[in-house]
Amino acid sequence: MTNARESVSERQPRRILITGGAGFIGSNFVHHWCNNYNSDRVVVLDALTYAGNRRNLASLEDRDNFKFVKGDICDRALVDELLATEDIDTMAHFAAESHVDRSILGPGAFVQTNVVGTFTLLEAFRQRWLQRDKPQSDRFLHVSTDEVYGSLGANDPAFTETTPYTPNSPYSASKAGSDHLARAYYHTYGMPTIITNCSNNYGPYHFPEKLIPLMCINILLGKPLPVYGDGQNIRDWLYVGDHCRALDVVIHQGKPGETYNVGGNNEVKNIDLVRQICQLMDELAPDLPISPAEKLITFVKDRPGHDRRYAINASKIKTELGWSPQETVTGGLRQTVKWYLEHRDWWQPLLSEEYQHYYQQVYS
Ligand code: NAD
Ligand code: DAU
Repeated sequence: MTNARESVSERQPRRILITGGAGFIGSNFVHHWCNNYNSDRVVVLDALTYAGNRRNLASLEDRDNFKFVKGDICDRALVDELLATEDIDTMAHFAAESHVDRSILGPGAFVQTNVVGTFTLLEAFRQRWLQRDKPQSDRFLHVSTDEVYGSLGANDPAFTETTPYTPNSPYSASKAGSDHLARAYYHTYGMPTIITNCSNNYGPYHFPEKLIPLMCINILLGKPLPVYGDGQNIRDWLYVGDHCRALDVVIHQGKPGETYNVGGNNEVKNIDLVRQICQLMDELAPDLPISPAEKLITFVKDRPGHDRRYAINASKIKTELGWSPQETVTGGLRQTVKWYLEHRDWWQPLLSEEYQHYYQQVYS
């Protein structure tokens, strides 16, 4: 079902370049787009870093109007060639280094991909947009995060689109830099960029290093469940399918130059979330190595600079574009836990030597 208000008969097919389309949110979005807009040309550009997985797109590879290109968003010549040969009119930019803990271990890759990579895409798109006589229906969607707004206290109001930027990690600082560039391209050049800032996503194809998949997988392996600090940090959980619908609406209905916050209306303390996952696993998984799974919960050293609370006020996108989240954290978590139970063949190969090395660095 399409969520754009533009009626299907009015809609002109788009030629969309999706960066980072082999990652978690990107691949969910590629499936969403292909399911809803059959006649659009869909090109995915992804460097297949440790977080990219071409198997996420396996069921789409045979489609005539789908193409996967392995490459770096910092490669200007490649991006120029793709924009020209594919006559791209829409960019959905997901590619990024996305994990806060990795940004603490090695911030350089974050500045390179998130700042320099976004700049490369913006410049290439601008040049092509000028050659195409600046069509106002072209779109450059820059997918960003609520982390750019910093950390909230327990009683602070949720982030709005006008909350000042206060990024606290190398990851969020690099995303903030890229947001400012995307914004500047609208204000300086009139290029139709739109920014979205969303809260924590969860759902299928989420890489094992992030909280929810990490807890699911460790329970299935009988390994400790590392909860940072006192476990009282709060995140606002957004089901990835809801996020994809929001981005669809923003591309079709959003106003160039604007920012839209996207949130799940699901603020949960980490420790409560981990306990819910344990209970779901106890219920759904036969023969857990350690049961009840809560026995595995282990409080570990806190993440440096750990933001205490994120919360999104998503009233702008609701009022102006008619989007709101549909999934509750209870329903979404049940679906997600089931997905990890049923897709051992997806996550097991991702626990590679590189992953074990990373795991050691963060948790030992
Ligand atoms: P992810 O880490 O799962 O996937 C990132 C993808 O980008 C991977 O496929 C990777 O191979 C690709 N990539 C990395 N560097 C690249 C480069 N230089 N060139 C081309 N491709 C490259 O990330 P995700 O969780 O799907 O996040 C997608 C976007 O959404 C990111 O921009 C992230 O900042 C943002 N975001 C994520 C969340 C979340 O909860 N996951 C929340 C808010 C915003
Ligand atoms: O808010 C949006 C952001 O959400 C995105 O921009 C990031 O790309 C995405 O990775 C995510 O960042 P977080 O740092 O919030 O997500 P993560 O899953 O790493 O952690 C969620 C919370 O759980 C956070 O408070 C840290 C805590 N945590 C995480 C891990 C991996 C633990 O307690 N233990 C862990 O082992």
